[in-house]
Amino acid sequence: MKILLFGKNGQVGWELQRSLAPLGELIALDADSRELCGDFTDLEGLIRTVRAVAPDVIVNAAAHTAVDKAESEPELVRTINALAPGMLAREAQHCNAWLIYYSTDYVFDGSGDRPWRETDSTAPLSVYGATKLEGEQLIRQSGCKHLIFRTSWVYGARGGNFAKTMLRLAQERDSLTVIDDQIGAPTGADLLADITAHAIRAARPELSGLYHLVAAGETSWHGYAGFVLDHARRAGIALKVAPEAIQPVPTSAFPTPAKRPLNSRLDTAKLRSAFGLTLPMWQNGVARMLTEVLDKQP
Ligand SMILES: NC(=O)c1ccc[n+]([C@@H]2O[C@H](COP(=O)([O-])OP(=O)(O)OC[C@H]3O[C@@H](n4cnc5c(N)ncnc54)[C@H](OP(=O)(O)O)[C@@H]3O)[C@@H](O)[C@H]2O)c1
Repeated sequence: MKILLFGKNGQVGWELQRSLAPLGELIALDADSRELCGDFTDLEGLIRTVRAVAPDVIVNAAAHTAVDKAESEPELVRTINALAPGMLAREAQHCNAWLIYYSTDYVFDGSGDRPWRETDSTAPLSVYGATKLEGEQLIRQSGCKHLIFRTSWVYGARGGNFAKTMLRLAQERDSLTVIDDQIGAPTGADLLADITAHAIRAARPELSGLYHLVAAGETSWHGYAGFVLDHARRAGIALKVAPEAIQPVPTSAFPTPAKRPLNSRLDTAKLRSAFGLTLPMWQNGVARMLTEVLDKQP
């Protein structure tokens, strides 16, 4: 099997380099790749790449993910998050390849408190959410075999993430305020990459479609921060802010250019049943990532 991976150095792309490697020949690109174009602003270049590689599977982990910045550069974001994936989908259709695309809970308006199902109506609140939704639609319209995984609150052990920021702030500051009215499930890039590899192995044309993919359970950013500090305290890390001293605040306390959904819960029943997989509780992945991070602290 020949797999063409775009966005190899992002949180998910990095983990995909690991999880996809045993499946076959892996060609992994990013925007700076030289011999083959991996730049999502160069649509002609992407076409040349797919035709040169003739892959069995295209995995699109590249995206414009700076949600607030996206509000001020909507055309660039649309090219990267929608037009380029749409182009890859048409090329995938031509060469009978599968296309894997990651989408987001931000396609929903965040109303209610029930986990969103794949069949629920979408109503994005932001440029980022709207362009990711358009990417989904262009992929479906192309007729290619595809797996679209909508996920949320992605973290990776590599680079910065919310948990590392909370750890640092709790060591530096005397108080910490964190939003408590957005609810979702922190989901590891490693879990997304592993599920992607399992799904590619199991993929049959009748499984082509849209799936919600997040870790099990739910929490708020406030609950997430509390879990992180509690884990750190148990590991003997000196903190100036105790987990129970984190002050909960509503989203309105931190105005941002992009509006975020309050209800980011995603129902994963379809994915678990179609692929026979179990999704671990979010705490398992976060604890594992924290153990790695804390092992590296002086
Ligand atoms: N992060 C989340 O919380 C979250 C939530 C829901 C869904 N998702 C989706 O999950 C997928 C993976 O996200 P992630 O967290 O791994 O994001 P990420 O860490 O921001 O990775 C995205 C990658 O795309 C690259 N990229 C940006 N512009 C590009 C361009 N013009 N051409 C080629 N590559 C370009 C980035 O490179 P640079 O870093 O050099 O710009 C980065 O390596 C995305 O589709 C995202 O929409 C993420």
